[in-house]
Amino acid sequence: MCGIVGYIGNQDTTNFLLDGLKELEYRGYDSAGIALLNDEKIDVFKALGKLENLKEKISKSTLGEYHIGIGHTRWATHGKPTELNAHPHLGEYSYVVHNGIIENYKELKEELIADGHNFVSQTDTEVIVHLFENYENKLENSTEAFKNTIQRLEGAFSILLISKADPSKIFFFKHGSPLIIARGKEEKEVLFSSSDAPLIGLANDVVYLEDGVGGVASTAGIEFFSDDYSWSTLPTSKQFAQKDGFRFFMEKEIYEQSDVVSDCMLGRLNDDEILFDEIDASVFDGIKEIKICACGTSYHAGLTSAYLFERLSKIKCNVEIASEFRYKEPLLTKDTLFIVISQSGETADTLEALKMAKKAGLKSIVVCNVDNSSMTRTADYTILTRAGIEKGVASTKAFSTQAVVLWMLALYIAKAKNVIDTNILQNEIHALREVPSSLMVADKMHEKAKRLSKRYLHGHGFFFIGRDVFFPLALEGALKLKEISYLHAEGYPAGEMKHGPIALADPELFTIALMPENLLYDKIKSNVEELSARDSTICAISPLDFELADDFIKTQKTDHYMLEFFEMLVVLQLLSMEISIRLGNDVDMPRNLAKSVTVE
Ligand code: F6R
Repeated sequence: MCGIVGYIGNQDTTNFLLDGLKELEYRGYDSAGIALLNDEKIDVFKALGKLENLKEKISKSTLGEYHIGIGHTRWATHGKPTELNAHPHLGEYSYVVHNGIIENYKELKEELIADGHNFVSQTDTEVIVHLFENYENKLENSTEAFKNTIQRLEGAFSILLISKADPSKIFFFKHGSPLIIARGKEEKEVLFSSSDAPLIGLANDVVYLEDGVGGVASTAGIEFFSDDYSWSTLPTSKQFAQKDGFRFFMEKEIYEQSDVVSDCMLGRLNDDEILFDEIDASVFDGIKEIKICACGTSYHAGLTSAYLFERLSKIKCNVEIASEFRYKEPLLTKDTLFIVISQSGETADTLEALKMAKKAGLKSIVVCNVDNSSMTRTADYTILTRAGIEKGVASTKAFSTQAVVLWMLALYIAKAKNVIDTNILQNEIHALREVPSSLMVADKMHEKAKRLSKRYLHGHGFFFIGRDVFFPLALEGALKLKEISYLHAEGYPAGEMKHGPIALADPELFTIALMPENLLYDKIKSNVEELSARDSTICAISPLDFELADDFIKTQKTDHYMLEFFEMLVVLQLLSMEISIRLGNDVDMPRNLAKSVTVE
């Protein structure tokens, strides 16, 4: 979720890079940096925090004349947000900027250290530049060195690399994360960016690089390593470009979920185990119970995970709303592992709950999307969700990455405690690998949500119902709808309807029923039948046809309930968004809400 820019040409390189990074800053900004190259030297500037800090640093420096440069805004994944960890990363005589994650960086790093390379940062990225120089030193041919380098890398990596060994060139490669190359409007100009926005107005022709495509660019032209590319025309609206062509950030973020969840799992899934480099397995020694605290959508991720911790890790788990936890004089014992979940890492109630647990001497983990936030600085351990910056106030991709991290954590603990059968573990890991495809938005599904949205604009309320993990999913579906459509909605455990709420049932009560095939199907089916018998209007979401439904959204057949969970999540997000759009609401900035709730 970092941003990349690059420039070759005769205009002001520094300005292009800084203006370009400004356009990308909305994607994440814990640090930024640029490297500028001329025939004699490479000058590098890096700063923590917002781009303004980098600009200020540069304005106080004496700059030379540069015709080549690369730049980066960082959203930390490996290594804290520090100046040392900011890109570009240096070897001896080359610099690289990188978007993605190098999964095999540890092996490569060991090999390079044995070959005499010195590492200064905690990042995975630094291996790229050392690997390049290792080959360059042997081959004395930069293009071949670069080709050899990319062949050794595993994971996701879109990179720009410059080197004093061949100072008129930028080497580029795209795999996983986006990268665009453009012919500038000025003569002999070549521009790079990880998104359209920085290029608009400065270029007309671009190549949206496909995975596995790379090459080398200079004022003499662009040489691609393969024929697998085509030129297209750049859009002209910046607003449109920032949203990657989507109508709202929320929509973009719903569509991004498949990719960010892949990023979230990179390097953490092995064939038969889950890896979390960021936590020390001894944190679970002597732990008999897990207590989770969070708010809103993050609380729903916590509730979901409680089923998984008990089912898979065989450990007692309870979940509390942070604002309730704070004042109930909770009994805290040191055999409890305290987990907080927060997209922002700044939510006042959750932060305070974490401080209380720390004060009581409990070990703590935060599952968070923002490194260097108040919670990551407070908790003993941080697991980053790697969702990239979330702009839409209604949380979407933060939730899916939280749910994936917590599912992985449940399996990690299960394995550490030796309470999971090898076949079950492998089956779970296999299912985890399928999550990105369950989160893909199919055109047909989006169309259906759009069509159905017009039927659900009146009535006296919505009940979202589900059982087991589909109950917190029902809560999340109801919260999404409330937040952006301002319609009344409740999430309820399906089996609980008959204990009171079914009294509300009539044709003007809309029931959104989550009916997975792989978990308690018959139970939820009879709960929905009870509502149908009382004339409630039913919208069923299921892979199995259900004749009593007034409306039906068919999901794919899978063999794991969590895959159904993620697909249904996307359906609920799309449905709320389409209802909100139809009502003419501001989808990204709903009334009365703020993205980060730093007050009690
Ligand atoms: C809902 C939403 C909120 C947040 C809640 C906690 O779409 O975004 O309910 O989930 O305010 O925020 P974090 O996760 O930042 O602690």
